[in-house]
Amino acid sequence: MRFDERLDPLLEEIAQKIRSCNKCQLAKGRTNAVPGEGPQHATMMLVGEAPGSAEDTSGRPFIGQSGKLLTDTMTSVGIQRENVFITNIVKCRPPENRDPTDKEIGTCAPYVLSQMDSISPVVLVTLGNVSYDFFSTTFYLPKKQVGEVRGKVFRLHSTGCKFLIPTYHPAAVIYNRKLQPDFIEDLRKAERYLKVPS
Ligand code: URA
Repeated sequence: MRFDERLDPLLEEIAQKIRSCNKCQLAKGRTNAVPGEGPQHATMMLVGEAPGSAEDTSGRPFIGQSGKLLTDTMTSVGIQRENVFITNIVKCRPPENRDPTDKEIGTCAPYVLSQMDSISPVVLVTLGNVSYDFFSTTFYLPKKQVGEVRGKVFRLHSTGCKFLIPTYHPAAVIYNRKLQPDFIEDLRKAERYLKVPS
């Protein structure tokens, strides 16, 4: 069984659309589209940038080096990966791991927004600049670099999701270990906000 076949029917419907998507040039170069994984009733959603090589090969998000750091950090602050929905803004790997273009992001955006709508997580954590940039544009949050907004808690209105918390991308933490304490603190905060009453 493929891991993402365990998705509940609503999320599976979105995943099927993603797997057969040919709306942009990234479809031509992919081995697998990477819809994301996690439970329909996840209270936390993590959104990265785009799949890398290991993710393209397997069809699963965050399973390479960045994924290991992310999963280990989540575990260390008491977040179980299997309880979280993990996905990316862009669902297919950009060649040579370049940043996705604005056009690719715009084309893929309806998928992550439908996932968010379908799950209605309490907390959405954006990982890195590409993810924060997308959600800050969508929800009229400050247009800032992730280093300036990480760890802040933005209250989202008129969506099913209550809080958006930006943090660094795990690849940035691997590259610059000085970011690690903040990364840990941000994920710890995200876990705490799951329990904040409305
Ligand atoms: N980087 C991302 O942004 N997403 C992944 O799934 C893997 C690496």
